[in-house]
Amino acid sequence: MICKNLSRNERGELCLAGHELSPLAEKYGTPVYLYDEARIRERCRTYLDAVNAAFDGRGRVLYASKAACFKRLYEIMREEGMGIDVVSCGEIYTAERAGYPLGLAYFHSNNKTDADIAYAIDHGIGYFVADNAEELYAVDRIAAQKDKRQKLLLRITPGIDPHTYAAVATGKVDSKFGSAIETGQALEISKLALSLENLELCGFHCHVGSQVFDSEVYISAARVMLDFVAEVKRELGYSAKELDIGGGYGVRYIEDQPEIDIAANIAEVGAFMKNYAAGLGIELPEIAFEPGRSIVADSGLTLYSVGTVKRIPGYKTYVSVDGGMTDNPRFALYGSPYTILPVCREIEADNAMTCSVVGRCCESGDILQENVSLPSDIGRGELLACLTTGAYHYSMASNYNRITKLPVVMLTEDRDYLAVRRESFEHLTALDV
Ligand code: LLP
Repeated sequence: MICKNLSRNERGELCLAGHELSPLAEKYGTPVYLYDEARIRERCRTYLDAVNAAFDGRGRVLYASKAACFKRLYEIMREEGMGIDVVSCGEIYTAERAGYPLGLAYFHSNNKTDADIAYAIDHGIGYFVADNAEELYAVDRIAAQKDKRQKLLLRITPGIDPHTYAAVATGKVDSKFGSAIETGQALEISKLALSLENLELCGFHCHVGSQVFDSEVYISAARVMLDFVAEVKRELGYSAKELDIGGGYGVRYIEDQPEIDIAANIAEVGAFMKNYAAGLGIELPEIAFEPGRSIVADSGLTLYSVGTVKRIPGYKTYVSVDGGMTDNPRFALYGSPYTILPVCREIEADNAMTCSVVGRCCESGDILQENVSLPSDIGRGELLACLTTGAYHYSMASNYNRITKLPVVMLTEDRDYLAVRRESFEHLTALDV
């Protein structure tokens, strides 16, 4: 199986974290997002242990909330000792409602409004990750009004191509994020941050992209960022205390994709950074990693029920499910691959067909995956599982066609519980005046 928390029992039924899936479908209805809580905690610990080992206990791991954001996840992050990356006041609000200590939160975004800045300061955000000069002036002005000195990192664009799909590549010079080293803007905003009275510059940040498999990308980013830290020290006499090198480690959606050994990778990056910083004659700042996808993606799957099966002789077969692009827009947006499996039986070679698994939205692009192998006699009511849906699914869900959002169910060794309720029709009209 693609992830070790998935198995089939003696009757051939698919299990997640040891739980049979059909009783869960019965209890909670479909479609539904399921999460293996132990797997989320295991991934947090893998990162924390790796970062502690690689940086002699001086590293940090921040969970990038955009991958999946609901109260229960923030409780888990707090319990596991993870920092968090937030990108909106909605995420800040959710974290606060979950009792997450916001002093450990880093506030990203390339465009924070004055209202966002005021809200974050009022709620005691730990750090801003400031994107550009305009933001620095705004944070300084609003912090002054509130008689606060705000800690921050500067988001720097290192000019690196992460070899991933365009929508998630962020480290190139022409990115909408951050201030580029190549154009001189990175040094300029460092100077500006140091000159503004109500800001406390704590260091730098970069994020090169997402779903990255090439470990060389992190070494390249580390090299460029340490060169920059040395340049800032030389030019401005400022020694960075923190360096956050972002998130982005890729996960397996299909068997053909590799499984990244996070611990080995971080050890490699750590060894490189220590050596390289020593060669530059600078002290290594405290290093932070900011993973989202690789914390939650493979702890989750989505359970669907099959509806219409449409065979178009000489063309193709469509297997429709009771969800679609409203709970998973990633194939429509990025052509992302997925593994989709029948829940209650395995696929026999002599009873397999190739089909498109599609959703229920009024749009031809509402496709979950093409060229899926499923039993040729599949029909109404049979359950399907789409694997690796723990990241960027719940958080990217929409109400297109006024379809209600799915519930989130967490699984532990001995129980299952609701973390997010299914949206109701009343919720849909709650804001209509
Ligand atoms: N830090 C920053 C500043 C980021 O922009 C991101 C992701 C992360 C950390 C976490 O990256 P991760 O470890 O999750 O790869 N909706 C897209 C992904 C967008 C990622 C945006 N930034 C998708 O579904 O593939």
